[in-house]
Amino acid sequence: MLPKLAFAASLLLSICAGTGVEGRRRHGRSSEFLHYSAMSCRSYSASLDEFGGVGDGVTLNTLAFRAAIEYLGQFESMGGSQLYVPPGRWLTGSFNITSSHFTLFLHRDAVILASQDERDWPLIEPLPSYGRGRDAEGGRYASLIFGTNLTDIVITGDNGTINGQGDTWWRKFRGKELNFTRPYLIELMYSDKIQISNLTLLDSPSWNVHPVYSSNVIVQGITIIAPTNSPNTDGINPDSCTNTRIEDCYIVSGDDCVAVKSGWDEYGIAYGMPTKQLVIRRLTCISPTSAVIALGSEMSGGIEDVRAEDILAIDSESGVRIKTAIGRGGYVKDIYVRGMVMKTMKWAFWMTGNYGSHPDNNYDPNAYPMIQNINYRDMVADNVTMAGRLEGIPGDPFTGICISNVTISLTPVPKKLQWNCTDVAGISSGVVPQPCGQLVDQGQETLVTCQFPEESLSIDCIEVQMCSNRIKHW
Ligand SMILES: *[C@@H]1O[C@H](CO)[C@@H](O)[C@H](O)[C@H]1NC(C)=O
Ligand SMILES: *[C@@H]1O[C@H](CO)[C@@H](O)[C@H](O)[C@H]1NC(C)=O
Ligand SMILES: *[C@@H]1O[C@H](CO)[C@@H](O)[C@H](O)[C@H]1NC(C)=O
Ligand SMILES: *[C@@H]1O[C@H](CO)[C@@H](O)[C@H](O)[C@H]1NC(C)=O
Ligand SMILES: *[C@@H]1O[C@H](CO)[C@@H](O)[C@H](O)[C@H]1NC(C)=O
Ligand SMILES: *[C@@H]1O[C@H](CO)[C@@H](O)[C@H](O)[C@H]1NC(C)=O
Ligand SMILES: *[C@@H]1O[C@H](CO)[C@@H](O)[C@H](O)[C@H]1NC(C)=O
Ligand SMILES: *[C@@H]1O[C@H](CO)[C@@H](O)[C@H](O)[C@H]1NC(C)=O
Repeated sequence: MLPKLAFAASLLLSICAGTGVEGRRRHGRSSEFLHYSAMSCRSYSASLDEFGGVGDGVTLNTLAFRAAIEYLGQFESMGGSQLYVPPGRWLTGSFNITSSHFTLFLHRDAVILASQDERDWPLIEPLPSYGRGRDAEGGRYASLIFGTNLTDIVITGDNGTINGQGDTWWRKFRGKELNFTRPYLIELMYSDKIQISNLTLLDSPSWNVHPVYSSNVIVQGITIIAPTNSPNTDGINPDSCTNTRIEDCYIVSGDDCVAVKSGWDEYGIAYGMPTKQLVIRRLTCISPTSAVIALGSEMSGGIEDVRAEDILAIDSESGVRIKTAIGRGGYVKDIYVRGMVMKTMKWAFWMTGNYGSHPDNNYDPNAYPMIQNINYRDMVADNVTMAGRLEGIPGDPFTGICISNVTISLTPVPKKLQWNCTDVAGISSGVVPQPCGQLVDQGQETLVTCQFPEESLSIDCIEVQMCSNRIKHW
């Protein structure tokens, strides 16, 4: 039974419902009801302005966020709580979500603005599966919104904005002025049941959304925008996560739109935590210097059972790209992609076995990755420079590659060699232009359809509820 509380109500729905805010006036003080869908609703709600927050774009609100979250933590086992961020520009340093069963909700006119002063960003340990920070040795700045060892966290809004104001970070990174790894916008670590939805993320200092060592993660309805020349502004990076669903996202950025990861060389091998059971659907991506979906390059814990469908790529370097190297170990297997439309691409298909990029010189030169059972089907691509550049590893071929029903039209000045395949093996069927001989054409009579699993993953069965909370205005 759900508790009957004056300020909260929830109703189970089998379909998703919209977000809305309805105004109400009562006893002279205004209040309104917030309606939105989430995987769980909360009994208690408070607004950032009740904790001294000032949304003028200038006042630093780090302490207000911390005070609000600490106060709301007392309701963790009493139905959970919600922090409402009202309209305004809320400048803040990094803050932590510290209790489970917690929702952060941004009004559509709320902007969380990240401080550009490094002193507002505490340093935290490197990830155990990476051994060091991605930009520099040693620690890393905590993400703007960080949480660890939590259950049931919702970060959502009526398309409210989180602006990382990354330009100063990018400049310092390019000028080699930073001693530590740049922060991400949202990172949740060792957590279960996460929903990040209906937000706009702008100008992250580095990666945007990073769930790591987590399970049951939904990322939905996120718009991510960063300049296409900004360094490492990856969109969504599920990293050593089980059961993740990324859908209805629009991403324009300077790096991969989605990068699936699981740790780096000897650290990732030792940690041994794969990313598996990942669904990506209805993604629109613009990434002129990177991939729409990258698998790796950090894949040392393994990547398996990834299902991507209904993807639109515009002006991107490559479609789905596998990136790995000797020393990574691990595997990329059981990858299924169908229904992809690509417009203006350098490479429709790209696999790179010699990506390099090692954390240090202690990687194991005998740690060969295993790349197997990779399925791509039902795709159309226009204005492509080169159809496929498939480079496996000498002595360690990438096998079980299947490409079917793919039509690629070329740019006015295409590469002479459209498919360059080394150390790969597999089959093809109904692919234009004709693939390399390593992808053995199954012939006109026997059109083969590459696999795509029909049974759904448990992340598709998470029920959504309609939540309703009264918001008071002060
Ligand atoms: C996001 O917003 C859309 C449109 O308002 C709504 O249909 C959907 O349920 C929302 N999803 C989540 C997870 O909040
Ligand atoms: C957030 O938590 C991390 C790890 O628990 C800690 O190192 C960091 O200082 C915390 N950040 C803040 C702003 O309290
Ligand atoms: C968080 O969870 C990890 C993995 O279960 C565990 O190793 C770590 O000690 C936990 N940290 C805290 C602060 O509870
Ligand atoms: C959210 O806001 C962004 C940026 O203003 C906009 O491009 C996008 O269309 C909006 N999304 C929705 C669902 O309204
Ligand atoms: C980086 O380290 C150098 C040498 O220790 C120091 O001079 C510099 O101020 C540091 N820079 C930052 C941004 O912390
Ligand atoms: C081939 O792919 C297109 C989408 O690009 C799809 O509409 C069509 O149904 C597919 N054909 C077969 C035989 O599956
Ligand atoms: C085709 O791709 C080239 C780059 O290879 C680009 O300059 C051109 O604008 C694209 N044409 C169209 C019609 O998109
Ligand atoms: C084909 O790929 C191999 C391996 O990467 C490379 O050495 C060779 O130069 C490529 N050939 C062409 C014509 O690009």
